[in-house]
Amino acid sequence: MIQALRGMRDIAGREARIFQMIEEKARYYFELYGYEEIKIPIMEMTELFSRGIGDMSDIVQKEMYTFEDRKGRSITLRPEGTAGVVRYYIEKGLDKNDPVQKLFYTGPMFRYERPQKGRFRQFYQFGVEAFGIESYLLDADTLDMLVAYFTAIGIKNPVVKLNNIGCSQCRPAYNGALKAYLHKHADELCPDCRQRIETNPLRVLDCKNEKCRAVTQLSPDIGDFLCDSCRKYDEELRDILTRRSIPFERDRFLVRGLDYYVRTVFEIHGGEGAQNALMGGGRYDGLVEALGGRPVPGFGFAIGVDRLVALLSDTGLFEKNLSDLFIAWSLTDKVPLLEKSSALRKCGLSVEFLADERSLKNQLKYAHKKGYRFVVLLGDDEAYSEEIHLKKMDSGDEVYVSPIDIREHLI
Ligand code: HAM
Repeated sequence: MIQALRGMRDIAGREARIFQMIEEKARYYFELYGYEEIKIPIMEMTELFSRGIGDMSDIVQKEMYTFEDRKGRSITLRPEGTAGVVRYYIEKGLDKNDPVQKLFYTGPMFRYERPQKGRFRQFYQFGVEAFGIESYLLDADTLDMLVAYFTAIGIKNPVVKLNNIGCSQCRPAYNGALKAYLHKHADELCPDCRQRIETNPLRVLDCKNEKCRAVTQLSPDIGDFLCDSCRKYDEELRDILTRRSIPFERDRFLVRGLDYYVRTVFEIHGGEGAQNALMGGGRYDGLVEALGGRPVPGFGFAIGVDRLVALLSDTGLFEKNLSDLFIAWSLTDKVPLLEKSSALRKCGLSVEFLADERSLKNQLKYAHKKGYRFVVLLGDDEAYSEEIHLKKMDSGDEVYVSPIDIREHLI
């Protein structure tokens, strides 16, 4: 038997219903806050991601699905959406001609990670990217949107974690202090983190290894190194969030796994387990320039759809909605079956019938098993009548009604 690839899965039944609901709501909220949809390709030149996300990031180092196409070019399945949207933004010259843009996207992303609960190799994101605005007000408005959205889809008590990781002015001094501290404790770190001291010291701060966590507890705090403008930005953002009653907690160990962030980084957590970041995002003011555009600021986030679906799936809601009516039929001429179904559907009722010609008894068995409360009986006698022969399954009561009036009998 051919099976799905490891870390890739089918989303069906209840999960597909939840997916659809949260996607509809995401679109609704994104549009409410002024974002417009963009559909970007699933594949890009590998260089876009290595330059965009960062050569030393885990994603680029070990998680990309990269291959050569028939012309020998290195192509990568997108591991995230930001780099592709930035590529579009620069390619269309928006950085020069129309820099303020608010875009959203939905779709699958691919990362060659070790599959586990909430972590897949093909997973889905709803993301937004806002270009051309450098202001804490945008960050605050975005968090406002996210909290409204999470509440609307029924996520209870989302925890917003927020940090400011400085900019090109102040981060180097912090990196220096952090490296010096980590070198002193190198023996106590996991092998990955020992390597990261030189290549990507910030990432040591969010290592999940207990020993590394013990070391980082006493490490220098980025908050003590922020330059005046980052400090002001951070204070203004936190102040407005507090006054808007948007709950958040500062987490100085939140650094994010992609190298393009400056200043604000944030995540929303919910549910159990280590893999419980339901979304992540932040400011990336240098990314457009790094990818060949003008120095335009950017800010965005991506929601991990699979994790939201899992969380909502545990609530026991989202049972399948049965059709309103089941038609059990036995006809010589089959046209009235389609006519009656269509007449009922025109009245806004959803209708199911079995198109194979099984016996009436077996059709009623099926309707019973599915839990239909009402069945329309359609035989040659009823075929050309204006009225519908309706049977209530539990009492066995039968009535003849016109399609227009049928609704009041469905109680
Ligand atoms: P990210 O933190 O790498 O950020 O991914 C965002 C979210 O996608 C995560 O919080 C998580 O919920 C979900 N996610 C990531 N990897 C997996 C996986 N293997 N399986 C299931 N879910 C996963 C980004 O991708 C940035 N592009 C976000 C962004 C947009 N920043 C600015 N703009």
